[in-house]
Amino acid sequence: MKIITIIGARPQIIKSSALSRAIRDCFSDKIEEIIVHTGQHYDNNMSEVFFEQLSIPKPKYNLGVGSASHGAQTAKMIEKIEEILVQEKPNALVIYGDTNSTLAAAIAASKIHVPIVHIEAGLRSFNKSMPEEINRIMTDHVSTLLFSPTISGVNNLKNEGFDLRLSDNPTIDRPNVYHCGDIMYDNTIHFSSLIAGNSTENTSEYYNKYGKGFILCTIHRNANTDDAKRMNDIFSAILKISQSERVILPLHPRTKKMLSSQLDKDIYESIMVSKSIEIIDPVSFLDMIYLESASKLILTDSGGVQKEAYFLEKPCVILRPETEWVEIVENGSAKLVDANYDKIIQEVNSFLSNPPKNYPKIFGDAKASQFICEQMIKYL
Ligand code: UD1
Ligand code: UDP
Repeated sequence: MKIITIIGARPQIIKSSALSRAIRDCFSDKIEEIIVHTGQHYDNNMSEVFFEQLSIPKPKYNLGVGSASHGAQTAKMIEKIEEILVQEKPNALVIYGDTNSTLAAAIAASKIHVPIVHIEAGLRSFNKSMPEEINRIMTDHVSTLLFSPTISGVNNLKNEGFDLRLSDNPTIDRPNVYHCGDIMYDNTIHFSSLIAGNSTENTSEYYNKYGKGFILCTIHRNANTDDAKRMNDIFSAILKISQSERVILPLHPRTKKMLSSQLDKDIYESIMVSKSIEIIDPVSFLDMIYLESASKLILTDSGGVQKEAYFLEKPCVILRPETEWVEIVENGSAKLVDANYDKIIQEVNSFLSNPPKNYPKIFGDAKASQFICEQMIKYL
């Protein structure tokens, strides 16, 4: 069978490496994969850096769409993806998560009757002010095979009317929903073992620079970067925390561009001169796994980084009012603090003095990609 995989934003590029690896290792005689990069992310350290390091096949097409408003960006992608689907005539389209690249591909494929495989289906924040929530809901409802990493994801789909009984002939009107574990758990296990095997710990430039035991922080959610009050509250809390802890902050380009315009002058200057806050460019995935593993706590608004904190058994303080990954909060190893200065400091201190100890295996058996390939071969 021929599949087209659409990637565009950093987390999708990383996720796609798990499926490409499963195809290469176990299904190369049955599945031909063509990769299309929309170009939503385009900086070297947001895109190119991942291909060689994670052995992702080179995209056959790069649509070069770049940054724009939601409508303009999504529209350009739809037009170009449709052309490729018409030309390539794949058996199925594979899409990940909830970005504008995901939605554009879902619209293009569903209208011309190409079955959609949605990986990371069913996740919900129940907050439609997030562009991602719109993208997820719309994508799920035009997909044919929906692979959910968590039980709560499957239950969300059930509550939206999906029939959980498997059909022998799934279609867009009678889709199949699977609980299959998290494809990023596959990746974290695979690449952490490579790190251990190759002692990348010692070769990561960050090992020599930062050692271990810092707080790792990432911020990029538009609700945080586009609202000056939220951004000032978060960075004021980071300043306070940095009085006693070192904070490493690989900064997303969206946030980097907003720093000087959104932050109050005194906060901005204090952040810039601080010796215990290290603002660095986005790092490669192996370096990120190193930084996550070497940290003692992770402060983030990223979906992927929240989960990796759990996979690597690090406490996580989430800079959002809610999360799609409800299991990690229910487990007590992650806390939701929104952009509330007092709550951020309180939960960071509480986790530092009393770190959680239990991390039950709730994200599968690190074989989600293999399972997904088997179902695609069986049904599409
Ligand atoms: C997108 C996704 C978000 C995901 C995130 C992962 C949508 C609606 N949002 O958010 O769900 O969590 O990717 O990182 O799809 N920029 C650069 N260089 C790049 C890419 C972006 O400078 O390579 C800057 C541009 O100023 C751009 C801004 O970042 O306008 C935002 O990029 P965009 O892709 O629109 O959204 P993200 O915030 O990255
Ligand atoms: N990541 C990375 N380098 C960085 C920051 C993040 O490789 O400097 C990885 C991280 O390990 C995770 C993914 O990017 O696998 C998460 O992407 P992001 O936070 O951009 O998006 P989200 O998951 O919130 O959609």
